[in-house]
Amino acid sequence: MSHNQYAKVTDNQPVGPEIYRLTLEAPAIAAAARPGQFVMLRVGPGPEPLLARPFSIHGVEGGQVLILYQVKGKGTKLLAQARRGEERLVWGPLGRGFELSLERPVLVAGGMGLAPLAFAAERLEERGAAFEAFYGLASREALVAWDAVSGEGAFYLDGWGWSGASEDGSVGHHGLVTEPLRARLQAGPRPGAVLACGPLPMLKAVAKLCAEFEVACQASLEAPMACGVGACLGCAIPAASGGYLRACQEGPVMEASLVDWGRV
Ligand SMILES: Cc1cc2nc3c(=O)[nH]c(=O)nc-3n(C[C@H](O)[C@H](O)[C@H](O)COP(=O)(O)OP(=O)(O)OC[C@H]3O[C@@H](n4cnc5c(N)ncnc54)[C@H](O)[C@@H]3O)c2cc1C
Ligand code: FES
Repeated sequence: MSHNQYAKVTDNQPVGPEIYRLTLEAPAIAAAARPGQFVMLRVGPGPEPLLARPFSIHGVEGGQVLILYQVKGKGTKLLAQARRGEERLVWGPLGRGFELSLERPVLVAGGMGLAPLAFAAERLEERGAAFEAFYGLASREALVAWDAVSGEGAFYLDGWGWSGASEDGSVGHHGLVTEPLRARLQAGPRPGAVLACGPLPMLKAVAKLCAEFEVACQASLEAPMACGVGACLGCAIPAASGGYLRACQEGPVMEASLVDWGRV
């Protein structure tokens, strides 16, 4: 069940280059949130801009919902100006999240794709479930953001055993995150599933690798979202069976085999 409410901003801090962490007091949403689900958020205090923006739930702390976001355009620029004590209209949790009960999943995050997967990792940790995690980013600078978020040094990479990969070689494996993932799938044992979130080219490559190694893949897909609740059809993702899947209803987390990656 999703909830619609004005939520108090309790924090909105820059944690890296153009990356912020927002905390909202939204107990009903926090209580219901599952990793991979998202919220729709009105970024301004007033009616402008009219359309809310979708953001993954990055975590929950008591009655607070955490969002990790990158400034991209008009809406996120405005959101970066939100001050503690102000209110924002938010509704959620929305959509389908990750299935976490599969045996020893492998998490693969690219860039801001870490937002929902850090929440997934936290829930797996809480359960004492074994998992592995790979994290790809452009360069070391972005890592500052993840350190600032955790406040515990390179927590995401070391504490949880995340294997890093960077395109410029400044941290972890020099190259794309799909390279250590391939090595891992080749080496075995076969994981119960790969859970992926990141840029589209990364998701396509991960889906292809999973098909090659016959591993189930849950991919979180992004699409422009006007309503977030299945009404506008703006978030259509081409389906492998023909037709379309709505990222806000049948996703954003979808079985990769259900998606027509050639048409996405
Ligand atoms: C389910 C879902 C979860 C998301 N989770 C996060 C998150 O945790 N953190 C985060 O930083 N961002 C997330 N996004 C992306 C975020 O919604 C967009 O970056 C945001 O709406 C941009 O708004 P804007 O007004 O600043 O930019 P606009 O002015 O609307 O656009 C600026 C640029 O961003 C691109 N853009 C706009 N919307 C999207 C989108 N949905 N996907 C990809 N590119 C887009 C545009 O093509 C354009 O190039 C998520 C998107 C979806 C669909
Ligand atoms: S965002 Fe409107 S149908 Fe998905």
